Amino acid sequence: MARVLKGQRKREGANKPLLKGKALGMIFQKPSLRTRVSFEMAMEHVGGHALYLSPQEIGLGKRESIADVARVLGGYVDAIMARTFEHEHVLELARWSPVPVINGLTDYNHPCQVMADMLTIYEEFSRLEGLRLAYLGDSNNVATSLMMAAAQFGMQMTIGSPAGYQPKEATVEKAQRLSRGRLSVGVTDDPAAAIRQADIVYTDTWTSMGQEEETERRRQVFPPFQINRALLAEASPQAIVLHCLPAHRGEEITDEVADGPQSRLFPQAENRLHAQKAILVYLLEDAGQLSKKQHRRFEKVVKAIDRQSEDEAD
Ligand code: CP
Ligand code: NVA
Repeated sequence: MARVLKGQRKREGANKPLLKGKALGMIFQKPSLRTRVSFEMAMEHVGGHALYLSPQEIGLGKRESIADVARVLGGYVDAIMARTFEHEHVLELARWSPVPVINGLTDYNHPCQVMADMLTIYEEFSRLEGLRLAYLGDSNNVATSLMMAAAQFGMQMTIGSPAGYQPKEATVEKAQRLSRGRLSVGVTDDPAAAIRQADIVYTDTWTSMGQEEETERRRQVFPPFQINRALLAEASPQAIVLHCLPAHRGEEITDEVADGPQSRLFPQAENRLHAQKAILVYLLEDAGQLSKKQHRRFEKVVKAIDRQSEDEAD
């Protein structure tokens, strides 16, 4: 669906007003560039409206309970997007909201990000299944969502993280369950072993939002996991480099890699727009506005997604 909508906008300069008159309420408890702007523009491109709600305005769970915010806001808008610290807060919103709730990042995961990442990888290799994905750095929210996506698309994943920053066993097991035996996920503290032969090399910040007081400690531990030219030479020569951004150049990634020929950082960032537009259309579309061909593809995608949606939390 993201590819259809992206192609349409590139070819025709515009999308159809699939979500005319629909509104998205966006709750942000943390800062954002990509998530905020891409959701807002995605709604605008399909004739809808997005509303930014800052932490001060909402006071989620402080000024008002999450259950009350969900029910009040859900009476005004057609979908809610929320970026929170605690994952439980997004689940709580979803429990009470009368309209769909989209996870725009929590401390646990970042599913919208990896929708865009999978689109970027597909555009590069024309497939997902069987590709080798190496993630280096902190086993954080982005790494968790990458694992879940790799599981569902039959990719081989290796995580290179220092001891103490590796994924929880329960998360790896969950990914393995989701993959129905297809995912092989390796976890190592050896960065060169993690990246060897990889088709996709992915990294993220060493210190995520909310962990700022650990910054100095993390700066001592993570340098061997920096994606630089020497380490990247261990990957497949055709490998692409991804980063969800914002990047801390000179820490998890060097300028020469971020701006080098293997980098896909900026097409990846643009794809947030297209992938999230697909998520919004999937949740809220007016089917009458789709062409027959688009509708058939849409139905196919929806069926495939439904077959895989066993795990409510992800
Ligand atoms: N990648 C990402 O989610 O960026 P923002 O924090 O700027 O939204
Ligand atoms: N892991 C990062 C991702 C930012 C998009 C964070 O949570 O800050």
